[in-house]
Amino acid sequence: MNILLIGSGGRESAFAWKLSQSPLCSQLFIAPGNPGTAAYGTNVNLKVTDFEGIKAFALANAVNMVLVGPEEPLVKGIHDFFLNDEQIKHIPVIGPQQEGAQLEGSKDFSKQFMNRHNIPTAKSQTFTSETLQDGLTYLAGAGLPVVLKADGLAAGKGVLICLTLQEAQTELVEMLTNAKFGAASSKVVVEQFLQGIELSVFVLTDGNSYKILPEAKDYKRIGEGDTGLNTGGMGSVSPVPFADAAFMQKVEERVIIPTINGLKQDSIPYKGFVFIGLMNCDGEPYVIEYNCRMGDPETESVMPRIESDFADLLKGVAEGTLAEKELVISDKVAATVVCVAGGYPGEYLKDKTISGLENVRGSIAFHAGTYADGEEIKTSGGRVLAITSLQNDMFTALQQATLDASRIYYDGKYFRKDIGFDLI
Ligand code: AMP
Ligand code: GLY
Repeated sequence: MNILLIGSGGRESAFAWKLSQSPLCSQLFIAPGNPGTAAYGTNVNLKVTDFEGIKAFALANAVNMVLVGPEEPLVKGIHDFFLNDEQIKHIPVIGPQQEGAQLEGSKDFSKQFMNRHNIPTAKSQTFTSETLQDGLTYLAGAGLPVVLKADGLAAGKGVLICLTLQEAQTELVEMLTNAKFGAASSKVVVEQFLQGIELSVFVLTDGNSYKILPEAKDYKRIGEGDTGLNTGGMGSVSPVPFADAAFMQKVEERVIIPTINGLKQDSIPYKGFVFIGLMNCDGEPYVIEYNCRMGDPETESVMPRIESDFADLLKGVAEGTLAEKELVISDKVAATVVCVAGGYPGEYLKDKTISGLENVRGSIAFHAGTYADGEEIKTSGGRVLAITSLQNDMFTALQQATLDASRIYYDGKYFRKDIGFDLI
């Protein structure tokens, strides 16, 4: 099977690492990939939203399956593009069509979906510029803190947790009438604040049956002790100790099964990943958000724990035979520490030469924001490398990933030294 993987981050590096181990995978192409993915397959210089370019490449290289990493091509309809084209409609795409991708692409759509299917989530109401006055009144009656969410994709920045009524009302006006997040905030979901501890649950589905992949915890804040600005993710751990069997059973019964059945009842075809961002509130699961893809940096901790042939699982998704496939998960613990660029998540340093990668011994160094400049590897993104270690126990995994992260050098390098230690 020739597989074309779309994307270029740490998540795609982890997918590429795992897929390259499959005997079913004859050729792996990554578009556009990065210097890390080049070790597991062939990078192809195509943008993730260049659908025509992707089509031409897939035809010229006898691609048998396309795996989509990031949300943008899914929300923009890459799967529909394939299905609507006679020449490529036979090539299965892993990742939902545009309608299913709305679970991530529109917070209002996903809240309506959850409410329709009785999936536990925070109480909310959606407002537009026409209903701004109602929104301001609603805020006055809502408890504090209160959460404002831009409806559309806003590069992870569209969620505001407001501590005072004045702040909430000012922000609602900013979002609805001054387009604070552009078109993404032309609708705003106002939501009750949930107190608890977060985790990420991942489901792979062929639209009929499903497999629950290893869960993970993601560390979003830039500073140690979970302080400072939100980032794309500074580290992850899998498994999550507080997601015990009793909790995961509630998640499966109250969230996963109603989600898969809800998609069917609503006639929304869905082949791909459902990423469920959950809050554990005193042992009860509530959905914070859905994403239509895997998480980053969660995937870097999830892939090493999957012992089964991942390409075979994806084949099951493509062919509708996922129920027949076996998913074996390792009991080991995976920890990921992300090395970021100086200044991130604000304006950050770029084009810095990376050294010390060869000193990473007890971990895998997944590339995220890197590029090759002749013989040198340089930094290009905010999140530069994801260092993942798989060990028998959590302490060793965390210690090893943190140690290996410290063995890498570039100007302005920063990483959190406390990832996961709160869970021990
Ligand atoms: P989202 O973009 O929906 O993932 O939201 C970003 C982050 O905001 C989440 O990871 C949570 O940490 C936080 N968040 C979102 N919704 C809520 C909520 N209802 N209560 C508490 N925290 C929330
Ligand atoms: N780590 C969170 C995300 O991928 O959205």
